[in-house]
Amino acid sequence: MEGLFSIRDARDGDMELIDAYAHAEGMDRIPGPDCVRVAVNDEDVVVAFCRLQDDANGIAYVNPIVTYAAWRGYGVGRALIEDARAIAGELRLIARGTSEGFYRKLGFVEMPWSDVDLEAASEECDTCPYRESCGPVPMRLAQP
Ligand SMILES: CC(C)(COP(=O)(O)OP(=O)(O)OC[C@H]1O[C@@H](n2cnc3c(N)ncnc32)[C@H](O)[C@@H]1OP(=O)(O)O)[C@@H](O)C(=O)NCCC(=O)NCCS
Repeated sequence: MEGLFSIRDARDGDMELIDAYAHAEGMDRIPGPDCVRVAVNDEDVVVAFCRLQDDANGIAYVNPIVTYAAWRGYGVGRALIEDARAIAGELRLIARGTSEGFYRKLGFVEMPWSDVDLEAASEECDTCPYRESCGPVPMRLAQP
């Protein structure tokens, strides 16, 4: 798949697909293209996106990353995380239990809940009715 996608800043015209991908994962609407990077195919159609949100100390939270289902397993998610790391340095996030293995593969390690900026992470795990089945894990990837 290498060479079949490239990464660029998101634009207004990408938002419909981005929101459809987020919606399909039960995620909130993405407010706009700011701080969103997209992977696009050879026809410049979005196949994945990654949004970064800074906390009060300027640490970037991945919130969220989604690869369109048909494109999963081809290195797009890894490329977006590498791109985010090159832009932002240290990355933090709250992983859904189902994606923890993906982050561990990329070098993320677990961090304590006390280190999480819940506003930047945009997660309401404490009150979420699906917390038990989701199994959220706070994680970080140190600066290269
Ligand atoms: C998690 C997600 C972004 C991964 O995207 P992707 O484009 O399929 O990831 P990649 O193909 O770059 O995978 C990189 C590596 O992680 C592995 N991997 C991917 N998803 C995995 C998972 N859920 N569990 C364990 N390993 C995983 C791949 O096998 C690959 O390993 P390799 O390098 O040894 O081949 C994608 O599955 C997704 O959009 N999931 C739904 C949304 C979601 O849960 N997002 C995270 C919110 S916290």
